[in-house]
Amino acid sequence: MTKKFYITTPLYYVNASPHIGHSYTNIAADCLARYMRKTQGEQNVWLLTGTDEHGQKIQKAAQEASLSPQEFTDKMVVQFKNLWETLNISYNDFIRTTEQRHITFVQKVLELLYKKGDIYQAKYEGWYCVPCETFWTEMQVKDQICPDCKRPLERITEINYFFKLSAYQNWLMEYIKSHDDFIRPLNRRQEVLSFLELNRLTDLCISRPKERLSWGIPLPFSQEHVTYVWFDALINYISAVGEFDGKDNYSSRWWPADLHLIGKDILRQHAIYWPIMLHALNIEPPKTIFAHGWWLIGESKMSKSRGNAVSPYDMVNTYGIDVYRYFLLRDVPFGLDGNFSEEAIIKRFNSDLANDLGNLVYRTLTMIEKYFQGDIPKLDIKKIKYDIQGGQIKDKIERLPIEIRTFLQGGFDFNFGSALEKIWELINMANKYIEDTKPWNLLKENKTDELKEFICVLVEVIRKVADEISPFMPNTAKSILEQIGKDTIKKGNPLFPRIDNLTPNT
Ligand code: MSP
Repeated sequence: MTKKFYITTPLYYVNASPHIGHSYTNIAADCLARYMRKTQGEQNVWLLTGTDEHGQKIQKAAQEASLSPQEFTDKMVVQFKNLWETLNISYNDFIRTTEQRHITFVQKVLELLYKKGDIYQAKYEGWYCVPCETFWTEMQVKDQICPDCKRPLERITEINYFFKLSAYQNWLMEYIKSHDDFIRPLNRRQEVLSFLELNRLTDLCISRPKERLSWGIPLPFSQEHVTYVWFDALINYISAVGEFDGKDNYSSRWWPADLHLIGKDILRQHAIYWPIMLHALNIEPPKTIFAHGWWLIGESKMSKSRGNAVSPYDMVNTYGIDVYRYFLLRDVPFGLDGNFSEEAIIKRFNSDLANDLGNLVYRTLTMIEKYFQGDIPKLDIKKIKYDIQGGQIKDKIERLPIEIRTFLQGGFDFNFGSALEKIWELINMANKYIEDTKPWNLLKENKTDELKEFICVLVEVIRKVADEISPFMPNTAKSILEQIGKDTIKKGNPLFPRIDNLTPNT
């Protein structure tokens, strides 16, 4: 089997500008993709992101902006692309659900499922939440209020098309039970299983009458309907990377996806609708669906509709791109919710980045400048006579890639924070080495060989750190390697000058 790693992000709704929550998923996905490219080979990794552009939410936002939906989405998509460029998101493909390649593919899926009898027509009568675009049964509704968003529901009666979710409930439960890594982390897997154990799935309404919503992919078998936005959007994960052959078999270099990275808010669609859709199409489910937690402001989820969204640009302009990436990946264990605050960024900045990493690089460069006129001492690494601390550092350098792999590849819980902690252990060992060795004394006592060896160990540490932080902080890694060249140094300004008098806005 060929080695490959296909990772996806959700497709973001383009009704509003992206905020920190959206950038979180893409930074995590980018970090993993970079890590996998580094360890498995550039050509074996595919990172897909994009935008979800159909549905009522978008149609309404376009109306409010006095633009056609197409003009509106064309304008909004630029904001997402620009942000990903600013944040160094190294995606291989960006799919918009309004692209012809996707529309044609979705219509093919609809036709196949309709022909198979997995999609059927029926009269629908019941409750509908306009903002969530979700139907609710009599049993699920109390006081005519949406169980999810708590806004008033509308009573509707209409002819629609339904997808036979209910026929596959047992299959799905068995599948989840026999695949430990399918839904992660484990508490989310349990959440989905309990839901399936306690509820009978009802069939999914996958159409919207055109008179109510015109902005969607037309159903190939009905002039009067367009496709429900979730049914359309999920299909992107296969439409972007493969095709059906003449016998309606799907083939792709990348499928099944190795990892769908999502927020916990969209777990049900990904862990219930999506695998059933794939199974009905005779396509393998993705290997892992990982749902991360939310960034909160105080007690509430950060979101545009709650009016508490923080712009990633503000953070990047104040603290820098890599500081922002580092903070999001380091501060909160992946999978849990976290509180967003600028105080927390400043704290991380001053301790981990300025004091630990920045200092190590700056002090080492200063010593090379002072003791060796900017030339990195040349020694055969194999011949260095390590003292005790130097030896421990050498062992740690060798161990580090394995430690990182445990957290980024083993166990499937993608513990970015712990991987970074392991890198910081090395940084801190090196800083302590400087303090304990007191190199200025070596110079005074004319112990040139020891001094050279000591500097060589530090240079090795810094090169290793630069290499290992590159998936997390690509610009910083580059800048460190530019300053510590092959033979000489090019000392720049400190990487992270301490922040002492900044008043946070959040
Ligand atoms: N369009 C759908 C997804 C379709 S995928 C086929 C959607 N879009 S969204 O723009 O509303 O949100 C997408 C994702 O943004 C969430 O799942 C999550 O990954 C991320 N986040 C949005 N707000 C967030 C936080 N406050 N915190 C962390 N991530 C959050 O749902």
